[in-house]
Amino acid sequence: MGFDLRNAINAISDVVQNRPAPIREFDQIYMKVADMVIQAEYVARVFDNKKIVFVGDGDGIALSAAHLKAEGVIDYGPTAITLLDFDERIVNSVKRFGEKLSGKVDIEAHLYNVSDPIPTEHLNRYDGFHINPPWGASNGGESVVVFLERGTEAIKTGGLGVMVIADDPDLPWTQFVLRDAQQRAIELGYVVCEMQPQLHLYHLDDAPDLRSCSCLMRQIDASLHPSASQPLSKERLTNFYGKSNPLQYQYVKELPTLNVERAPDNQYQLMPLGGEC
Ligand SMILES: C[S@@+](CC[C@H](N)C(=O)[O-])C[C@H]1O[C@@H](n2cnc3c(N)ncnc32)[C@H](O)[C@@H]1O
Repeated sequence: MGFDLRNAINAISDVVQNRPAPIREFDQIYMKVADMVIQAEYVARVFDNKKIVFVGDGDGIALSAAHLKAEGVIDYGPTAITLLDFDERIVNSVKRFGEKLSGKVDIEAHLYNVSDPIPTEHLNRYDGFHINPPWGASNGGESVVVFLERGTEAIKTGGLGVMVIADDPDLPWTQFVLRDAQQRAIELGYVVCEMQPQLHLYHLDDAPDLRSCSCLMRQIDASLHPSASQPLSKERLTNFYGKSNPLQYQYVKELPTLNVERAPDNQYQLMPLGGEC
């Protein structure tokens, strides 16, 4: 390892502290911290000096890669990162943190739902994309393919993509989703140039051992690159976040609070000294 582990974990800890609580209904399930260090360093390495887009990133891998570079833990990493996510809490938290990195890595974050076409200002604009989508156990991997297509639409031809999805050889659904996602990537002109199997663990109570892999893809056939983006058809929304849990919400809106980065004041009560408990 070519970097100081303590400095790296402390940098990632800043990002973890900044994340809003995950909403399980939308498959927001956060990656464990040691695996975030590994993924963030990897992302910084493969996207060195590049402008990249994250389609969804509750984990905070985008900020982690940027913060490792900004803190001098590593001397490589992307020059600019844009996050597109349908959760305004995540978008706002990334904007807030991103301001602190200004001058070192440019951070942008925008509200966007993958059911909509990629907005023209983001179409074919970036050098690479990163996705960690809903893993598609109940929709044959369709949710993975949707995020893969949106990431592809957002990048220029000949770009790179990193796809983080479930990978457990003992769970056949993960292997079929992995195969079908790679098949779709090939149809979109990519080759899978690196595959790191069973790499990350998550804070997932009902499947604590379920791991994800990291697939790096390079687009080698420009003729297959999409130059336009269409809304998602209704059939593709079914079971998007799991059985009987379709994609049916446009955005998660953040409710205003005066307690930014502090404990929400509706979760505790202050009892005066000497008072009754
Ligand atoms: C689906 S979660 C996958 C688990 C991942 N470990 C995480 O929690 O970030 C990844 C990200 O996708 C975002 N997301 C979920 N549904 C979306 C949608 N319809 N459009 C855009 N982003 C979405 C979530 O808010 C989250 O930030």
